[in-house]
Amino acid sequence: MALIVPVFIALVAIYILSFYKQIQNYFRLNHYGSKLPGPPLKPIMGNANMLKDKTSDEMGFVFLEEARKARKRGDSIMRFVLPGKLIVWPLNGKAVAQVLDSTTEIHKGSDYEMFKPWIGGLLLLVGDTWKFHRKLITPTFHFAKLEGYFNVFNSESKILTELLEKFADSGETVDIFPYINRCLLDIICEAGMGTKVNVQSNHHHPYLKAVKGYVELMMKRSTRFWLWNPFLFWALGYKKQQMDYLKTLKKFTADVIAERKQARELEGQTGESVSKRNMNFLDLMLSTTESNGLTEDELRNEVDTFMFGGHDTTTTSCGWMVWSLAHHQDIQQKVYEEIVSNCGDDTNEEITYEQANKLHYLELVMKESKRVFPPVAAVQRHLQEPMVIDGHKIPAGTNIAIAPLVLHSNPEVFKNPEVFDPNRFLPEECAKRHAYDYIPFSAGVKNCIGQKFSVLNEKVLISHIVRNFKIEPMLELDGTRPCLEVVSRPSKGIPVKLTRRL
Ligand code: HEM
Repeated sequence: MALIVPVFIALVAIYILSFYKQIQNYFRLNHYGSKLPGPPLKPIMGNANMLKDKTSDEMGFVFLEEARKARKRGDSIMRFVLPGKLIVWPLNGKAVAQVLDSTTEIHKGSDYEMFKPWIGGLLLLVGDTWKFHRKLITPTFHFAKLEGYFNVFNSESKILTELLEKFADSGETVDIFPYINRCLLDIICEAGMGTKVNVQSNHHHPYLKAVKGYVELMMKRSTRFWLWNPFLFWALGYKKQQMDYLKTLKKFTADVIAERKQARELEGQTGESVSKRNMNFLDLMLSTTESNGLTEDELRNEVDTFMFGGHDTTTTSCGWMVWSLAHHQDIQQKVYEEIVSNCGDDTNEEITYEQANKLHYLELVMKESKRVFPPVAAVQRHLQEPMVIDGHKIPAGTNIAIAPLVLHSNPEVFKNPEVFDPNRFLPEECAKRHAYDYIPFSAGVKNCIGQKFSVLNEKVLISHIVRNFKIEPMLELDGTRPCLEVVSRPSKGIPVKLTRRL
């Protein structure tokens, strides 16, 4: 009994101390934040109330609306202050270039903290380790290698269309999003890791459930400031959820690595060897680990990074592309005609590398779809040094939101941004704008390493779907909305009706 009071006091002290850094940051960043243009600040809470009770599909609208007001005032940046956090959003390509062109301001924002125990690879690395890993991995995405992935792109896309046939035959609505998701996980495992996992035939795969759960949890934590506190995060039961997801995520990649190691041992015994130039991503990582160039931890981190980065982003892109085609029948018909004229109408035929490179109209539509529905709505940088953006002094410690979501809907650059118009990406139109006004794959030194791989993968997958089926939407255009999460998952999936073409 006598111990209760001191224990209670100690707990309260620990609790207050755990907020100390937040309190210190709060005063410093609030001071700077109040001098920058942005929505009115409330005492203590800053702009936190604006995000309160917002679901992740409502959150994007808050930022878009504030960006609209800021542009109307003639501002090129806007700021949000959350308790202990200052977030600055550059609103056009010129303003965002300040950050993206820097070779030193490449540290990720504080929202990425939760990524660290899961994917500690290239995406989060900085400094010499990042340079070494980036140089090591780049050859696996060399254009000469990309053609080699076409077998996998085609075989897995064909499995996808076969699975979808039953919906075309029954006329039943299908949410095509999880089908695409499973297909792309199979593709990254087979093309990148040399391992077949057949997720397309397992609709309840624990890895995919854990990915969804983990990114939802990340978003919850980044927008509810009280969860930034480790003690409250633990006490409210979220830490346990995080650890459970992590266990599943790590087990899946550990199994893929183990299987590939075993296969390599067998290949070694039979004298088979592959030159470094022809190795897939995982083989290259394994051979570098064997020669002590990478530690086992670094290897696992990169595999986790590529497993996630390689499938969830492209899934979101393909999902929104299907939605865009479903809602624009004239554009879908033009895409279909281009595919048939370049690749023929035999649905069993593969789409070759040469053919994919000739699908120019499809590429315009894919770009416009990524403008309207950026698969990665925003990424963050955490400023190490103060920076001046368009005359505004931004302090070190600020999170910079590099947000395709707000850049791609800038009416000063994209006239009538709500109109879906692939011709915006004709070369003469692109020449009229700043290169960073359109950045679905980010830009600068930390841009997406998998961009070319992803574009070709999407071309093949979409070509197979469109060559097989006419796609119609089963909801209004905004009946399913992009969630502001790590990727822009559609809030109600991608519900469509498919009709066989031939
Ligand atoms: C439509 C598909 C994709 C989109 C929209 C996309 C978008 C992005 C963006 C915006 C970044 C920068 C992130 C940041 O600065 O915080 C990034 C980085 C990265 N992406 Fe992608 N990505 C896609 C596909 C892929 C694929 C297929 C792979 C791998 C096979 C991949 C692997 C990576 C990696 C490893 C990085 C970190 C690069 C570095 O920091 O050096 N991505 N991606």
